Amino acid sequence: MTVDVLKANELKKAAPVFGQLSFDNHEQVVFCNDKDTGLKAIIGIHNTVLGPALGGTRMWNYSSEWDALNDVLRLSRGMTFKSAITGLNLGGGKAVIIGDSKNDKTPEFIRKFGEFVHSLSGRYITAEDVGTTTADMDLIRKVTPFVTGISEEIGGAGNPSPITAYGVFMGMKAAAKYKFGTDDLEGKKILVQGIGHVGEVLVEHLYGEGAEIYITDINQERLEQVSRKYEATIFSGSDIYSANMDIYAPCALGATINDETINKLNVKVIAGAANNQLADEQKHGKQLSEKGIVYAPDFLINAGGIINVYAELEGYDRKEIMRKTENIYNTTLEILNSAEANKLSTHEAALMIAQNRIDERKKQKLG
Ligand SMILES: NC(=O)c1ccc[n+]([C@@H]2O[C@H](COP(=O)([O-])OP(=O)(O)OC[C@H]3O[C@@H](n4cnc5c(N)ncnc54)[C@H](O)[C@@H]3O)[C@@H](O)[C@H]2O)c1
Repeated sequence: MTVDVLKANELKKAAPVFGQLSFDNHEQVVFCNDKDTGLKAIIGIHNTVLGPALGGTRMWNYSSEWDALNDVLRLSRGMTFKSAITGLNLGGGKAVIIGDSKNDKTPEFIRKFGEFVHSLSGRYITAEDVGTTTADMDLIRKVTPFVTGISEEIGGAGNPSPITAYGVFMGMKAAAKYKFGTDDLEGKKILVQGIGHVGEVLVEHLYGEGAEIYITDINQERLEQVSRKYEATIFSGSDIYSANMDIYAPCALGATINDETINKLNVKVIAGAANNQLADEQKHGKQLSEKGIVYAPDFLINAGGIINVYAELEGYDRKEIMRKTENIYNTTLEILNSAEANKLSTHEAALMIAQNRIDERKKQKLG
């Protein structure tokens, strides 16, 4: 069957990887299958100019293989720019495992995944993400050295989520400084969507600042716990996207800023941990600027986690991790100002700086 005899709506299937909208000149995409354990995973290596492609493994019950592929392509690309803008010598990669992390995971299943990671000889280095844990990384460590985010007992930097949350907090404060003229969050109405590993620690920082915190999650039990612990209000409105807030912090999953939500948004700043918050980077980034909403680029302010795992490779200590993460404040302010000066969306301004660093390194390498 050739492409020209296919119907238009099937063309995507005729170019299943290289033809996807989310395909952005990725260097390598690896499909992993193991009959015995039922493992089905995809590893995406977007770019290795600055170093090995590092990024976590997400385990998610994707509704289709298309969704899984789209996710790994988008996430691995995001990692390239995240490391580049943070000044790390790492490329961008990510892995997705198709399945239910609560029911489908066994030690053998995870070990098998580790063997696939090992087969790439260090071009891809994994870590935890949604649906995988430090304990999973410890298991992977038994079959490959190409893993980070392992527990402190075996020489790792431990759970990256608190550092990610601290970086998001720094980025949020910088965005507040830009928008409100002060980075003091006391009394600011802040909605945190998703109070998981990162979201809860972010709430803890906001509580420390005296912010007026609203929380939302699909997990009712967590909502009640976090609400009690940090005097946060469980958001009770019918539509979180039209809530009148100073700051919206997306800390659940990506693409919450999309065609449906963008015109409802009634906030002044967006700063959160979720990867790929903009469903369409160009279009929605520009629309946010036009609406006067300050968007702190996700891949910039959620880099604390990668700074933390990078320490395992480079051997720097906790103090240096915190210093590098705190610096997200300065980089965010720089980018918000540069976006304004160059009449770009904040996302574009951040991408441009990251891409320049990659291009420079490529030139040096070519000699
Ligand atoms: N953990 C890290 O260090 C790190 C680093 C960088 C980026 N991120 C990104 O930050 C986000 C959160 O990461 P995490 O580690 O806290 O994940 P997590 O799984 O611990 O928490 C996610 C939370 O979001 C909730 N949730 C899911 N769908 C929701 C919805 N539709 N509405 C409201 N809540 C919903 C879940 O119930 C859960 O409590 C993810 O997008 C992740 O990719 C995490």
